Amino acid sequence: MIYQIYPRSFQDSGDDGVGDLRGITARLPYVASLGVGAVWLSPIFTSPMRDFGYDVADYCDIDPLFGTLDDFDALVAEAHRLGLKVMLDYVPNHTSSDHAWFRESLTGKESGKRDWYVWRDPAQDGGVPNNWKSFFGGPAWTLDEASGQYYLHQFLPSQPDLNWRNPAVRAAMFDVLRFWMRRGVDGFRVDVIWLLAEDEDFRDEPVNPDWKPGDVEHASLDHIHTQDQPETHEYIREMRRVLDEFDDRMMVGEIYLPVVKLLPYAGTAEEPMVHLPFNFHLILQGWTAELVRGFADSYDAECRLRHSWPNWVLGNHDQHRFKSRLGADQYRVAQTLLLTLRGTPTVYYGDEIGMTDVDVPADRLVDPAALQQPDSPEAGRDPERTPMQWDATANAGFAPGGATPWLPLADDYPAVNVAAQDGDPASDLNYFRALTRLRAEYPALVGGAYRSLETPGADVFAYERMPEHGGGERVVVLLNFGGEAADVAGLAGGDTLLSSLGDRPERGAALRPHEARILRG
Ligand code: NOJ
Repeated sequence: MIYQIYPRSFQDSGDDGVGDLRGITARLPYVASLGVGAVWLSPIFTSPMRDFGYDVADYCDIDPLFGTLDDFDALVAEAHRLGLKVMLDYVPNHTSSDHAWFRESLTGKESGKRDWYVWRDPAQDGGVPNNWKSFFGGPAWTLDEASGQYYLHQFLPSQPDLNWRNPAVRAAMFDVLRFWMRRGVDGFRVDVIWLLAEDEDFRDEPVNPDWKPGDVEHASLDHIHTQDQPETHEYIREMRRVLDEFDDRMMVGEIYLPVVKLLPYAGTAEEPMVHLPFNFHLILQGWTAELVRGFADSYDAECRLRHSWPNWVLGNHDQHRFKSRLGADQYRVAQTLLLTLRGTPTVYYGDEIGMTDVDVPADRLVDPAALQQPDSPEAGRDPERTPMQWDATANAGFAPGGATPWLPLADDYPAVNVAAQDGDPASDLNYFRALTRLRAEYPALVGGAYRSLETPGADVFAYERMPEHGGGERVVVLLNFGGEAADVAGLAGGDTLLSSLGDRPERGAALRPHEARILRG
């Protein structure tokens, strides 16, 4: 299980209102207490922070805001001492415009680094080379007045795309992976890995007929020439060979694609690619028992066919908090689902204590996705990036020195925080820990086969997890997505191991509204 830390928001030790590495290290015993196996840190590298670290100016150093390489080494040592793996966020598609490579590229067409980025002459009319758009709104091209050429950026103009067709770029970026693996890093989450290559002929993208006002501008095109290109698959196979130069390392790829296009990113036994292509479909699709069951059945079956290991995600730093999206009633149902389906779950910091989106006032918005797209209210990501709620003291214990946190805290922090929940057996935090304990005690919940069960009510999703190679016990999971009690007496399953409502209902007792229940098989 992977636990994502957004470093700016986890723990400030330097009294500047921004989280840092020493803060994270101090909190690692808490992370270990959750029963997770690995931490993934969103970017901590040298950066002007225009996209909060996803704009890297030096891939092999730590931004002073977060600390130093020595602080990083101490973090890795402490994590390993606690039995936690450490994963970094590798951002290969683009650098910051402050990166030395881009500065050199900007010196002119003759620059040795010119071809490290994607440069094009203007179109015949003197405008942008084609109709490609930036994820943050506006064209994906910015003019360099000095040379009269445009450079490509799928995100901010200050995030120029690297030219992955250039072998020198690939070699330099692979050395970055080696640098961190030599320092003891166990794996990587790879940013926008499905965007690495673009169409060689720079053809316009067709219009998306489903786009409607209010949707982000980027979604107005069908991205057949900027995403999921065959060359990207080749580059990832190369990337994987670099990972495999070291023992026991892994990578997870950020990929927003339908399952048929997503699973090929795991590659084949002969030509492996990423270990886990992130499965974001629990976030993207509707939340009903029927839809979730349909998706879980087909995804699990597809993974088996391809001998690919599944994974599940409900939240990250780009998506609204799942407790806000699905509603408080469904919060534990969703948490139970995430931790009991077959595959590796990824958990976003704070979701284990039930943090919700924060309504960030206009004068405190900092995310460029929000600031650049005021007509698309859903585009901003500040609400899900607010400081971790540790205790009821000032600043929720996040910035104990008193500095103003970089994003406002949730109003509910005096009640919703780690300290308040730690000693309360009925808390969300201890419910999360109970789930991870069950995963440790019942191996079928981790590696066992998954099979959904026929249920009497439309709002109930039920499945069994069976030990695959003999031994161990079968486990049954019952999830009520609705507000009515459901008769589950006819369903398989024995004693209750855990209920989201905190008690241990008898065998066959009705499933209460919004209840999640786990039974011994
Ligand atoms: C995906 C990251 O998750 C997001 O936060 C970032 O803005 C873009 N990639 C650009 O790197």
